[in-house]
Amino acid sequence: MLAFLILTMGLLPAHTTGSPTCTPLVPADMDNATVNRLLGHWVYIMGASQYPPHMAEMKELKYATFTLFPGRNEDEFNVTEIMRLNETCVVRNTSKIHVYRHNSTLAHEEGQEVSMAELIHSDKDLFILKHFKDNHVGLSLSARTAEVTKEQLEEFEAQLRCHGFKLEEAFITSPKDACPEAGEEMGEGSTATAEPRLG
Ligand SMILES: *[C@@H]1O[C@H](CO)[C@@H](O)[C@H](O)[C@H]1NC(C)=O
Ligand SMILES: *[C@@H]1O[C@H](CO)[C@@H](O)[C@H](O)[C@H]1NC(C)=O
Ligand SMILES: *[C@@H]1O[C@H](CO)[C@@H](O)[C@H](O)[C@H]1NC(C)=O
Ligand SMILES: *[C@@H]1O[C@H](CO)[C@@H](O)[C@H](O)[C@H]1NC(C)=O
Ligand SMILES: *[C@@H]1O[C@H](CO)[C@@H](O)[C@H](O)[C@H]1NC(C)=O
Repeated sequence: MLAFLILTMGLLPAHTTGSPTCTPLVPADMDNATVNRLLGHWVYIMGASQYPPHMAEMKELKYATFTLFPGRNEDEFNVTEIMRLNETCVVRNTSKIHVYRHNSTLAHEEGQEVSMAELIHSDKDLFILKHFKDNHVGLSLSARTAEVTKEQLEEFEAQLRCHGFKLEEAFITSPKDACPEAGEEMGEGSTATAEPRLG
């Protein structure tokens, strides 16, 4: 899913709004604690792209989770991604993430495909990436659960606006489209109520 997200997060260069309320995104300080806290399970919440081919792909993505496991080497993670594309749940477990601490960059490798994103400083239960693809920039928000607080959501939405996105262009996954996790029954459990409101 990260490859998918990173690849699909390309944007046309965003025009600056000049809004005085835009606080710059701060890259995460990549100490051991920060890198270690990336381990485990994450739920993709929302993201935005203004790059038409990528928007089309994002429309297929209804729900996505990903889990980071310790990889073979230090600062390397193995990744399992579970996502619903249209109606179908797909599992990918062959990709890796390399952590470059010096520039807060995560490089997602799937086969020959490498995509880069900067890890943004955030609450510890959030996973915010600023994606780079050629000269295009994108933003994505993931969290430990499908539920984020109203404040967290509003803060991310403000960042989208600051990066020149219209909120109605933002792409949001819905917990009702959740795929069964390994060892979980279909339709079980999660009554996540994150219902991001646009505008
Ligand atoms: C960070 O972790 C590595 C091993 O994973 C260890 O060698 C190093 O001492 C740790 N650094 C700090 C500041 O704890
Ligand atoms: C990570 O993936 C590699 C294959 O790419 C595999 O050999 C290794 O066992 C995996 N590590 C873990 C902890 O699953
Ligand atoms: C998802 O649906 C769209 C439109 O119905 C279709 O064009 C696309 O190929 C589908 N994608 C996948 C991965 O099934
Ligand atoms: C990926 O999933 C397949 C099928 O479930 C499994 O056979 C394989 O061992 C898994 N690979 C990794 C690296 O976890
Ligand atoms: C971060 O550093 C890595 C390794 O030096 C490099 O490949 C990557 O392009 C850098 N990322 C950014 C966003 O500059």
